[in-house]
Amino acid sequence: MIFDIEALIDHALAAKALSYSPYSKFKVAAAILLKNGKYIMGANIENKSYSLTVCAERCALFKLVSEGYTKDDVVAMCVTANTDSPVSPCGACREVMDELLNPDTPIILTNNKRERMIVKNSDLLPLSFKLEN
Ligand code: THU
Repeated sequence: MIFDIEALIDHALAAKALSYSPYSKFKVAAAILLKNGKYIMGANIENKSYSLTVCAERCALFKLVSEGYTKDDVVAMCVTANTDSPVSPCGACREVMDELLNPDTPIILTNNKRERMIVKNSDLLPLSFKLEN
């Protein structure tokens, strides 16, 4: 599906302002473009009990589901952070992306310089555990 990748990156970059990261001071953000043209944004939300932190990717994906959407409503997802090269989602987020997004969904990994790596969701978690296993 053709979509405006620059607009998607713009939304992810804008969502960094929503990051609550007083401990790491590392702002991560995500934006999900829906087929209805809307965007769902997420940012990392940290906690004084560090392990309770929720990553930007999972924040956006939990919003997707809790707002009534499914993987079939999604065009693409973008993740961004101020990293030297395009940010790479952590393993926990990859599991949740594997669960809540389609395997072929384009994932755009970016940074502040708008450098980008575009992968398929299934590329991020090869040989993943599947329900049918
Ligand atoms: N973080 C994310 O938001 N996404 C990732 O994929 C990796 C890490 C956040 C969690 C924490 O707030 C900060 O980055 C430092 O680990």
